Amino acid sequence: MLIIDDPQQLREKIKQLKQQGSEIAFVPTMGNLHEGHLTLVQAGQKKAAVVIVSIFVNPMQFNNAQDLLNYPKTVAQDCEKLAVAGVNIVFTPEASSIYPNGLNTQTYVEVPLLSNCLEGELRPGHFRGMSTIVNKLFNLVQPDYACFGEKDFQQLAIVKQMVSDLALPIEIIPVATKREKNGLAMSSRNSKLSGLEKQKAPFLAKVMNRIAIDLQAQKTELSILIDDASNDLNNAGFNTDAIHIVDAQTLQAVSCDSKEAVILMAAFLGETRLIDNKVVTLNPSKINI
Ligand code: PAF
Repeated sequence: MLIIDDPQQLREKIKQLKQQGSEIAFVPTMGNLHEGHLTLVQAGQKKAAVVIVSIFVNPMQFNNAQDLLNYPKTVAQDCEKLAVAGVNIVFTPEASSIYPNGLNTQTYVEVPLLSNCLEGELRPGHFRGMSTIVNKLFNLVQPDYACFGEKDFQQLAIVKQMVSDLALPIEIIPVATKREKNGLAMSSRNSKLSGLEKQKAPFLAKVMNRIAIDLQAQKTELSILIDDASNDLNNAGFNTDAIHIVDAQTLQAVSCDSKEAVILMAAFLGETRLIDNKVVTLNPSKINI
């Protein structure tokens, strides 16, 4: 496995691979890798002979300087995992080579409709930073395929829209959320949970699955489903941050035209913010808004 930190060296390697006719699958990450990331790698390996993973904690998508400082940096362990997984190249650039002129004057890419709602409302600038770095990494890696987890539902929707709007020649491969046996969605953040919090954490997915069943039955108003779920989480020791049920394509309010809704869950357990989501197919004639 090659580890490259210099964008120019990466470009030369990519040129070589393209001349050989190799297809490339790309998995962008911020490191601190867990099994969920490795399923993204496996999805890439199914698509292309060469898999490139980037590890870059992107300062442009953090709106809180302390979060950026606290973000776990585990590049050596990550590279070991990626080598075992059979990854071909890991790209580990420094912020100074990605943003040589700093962040203040950096050109950006923004997907307006999908970026400023939901999580985007809570984290101004986050999705602009995310779409900008993903675009930049796409330009450096020039992948044929790029794998993104469905766990970050809004991020995936934004990346798909960006690729379509900018006619980027890349196929986005969505990868299903990897879960623990107890249903908890895998996340780098789970490692921050205490023993007791780990026992409570799967309740988030249980509540989400219950909303999904009720939503499918389409008998109860969405606001009631959300309030009930929020109360149940709070009574179980969570601090509910946001529960949304929105159109899965537009991320706007569910309407009579909505074919699918997505339930987006975010709740704190102690200091740790857990997220999860589930898509539900709707019967338009029964929509109960
Ligand atoms: O999901 C992430 O880890 C990041 O948002 C991404 C896609 C690597 C961009 O920095």
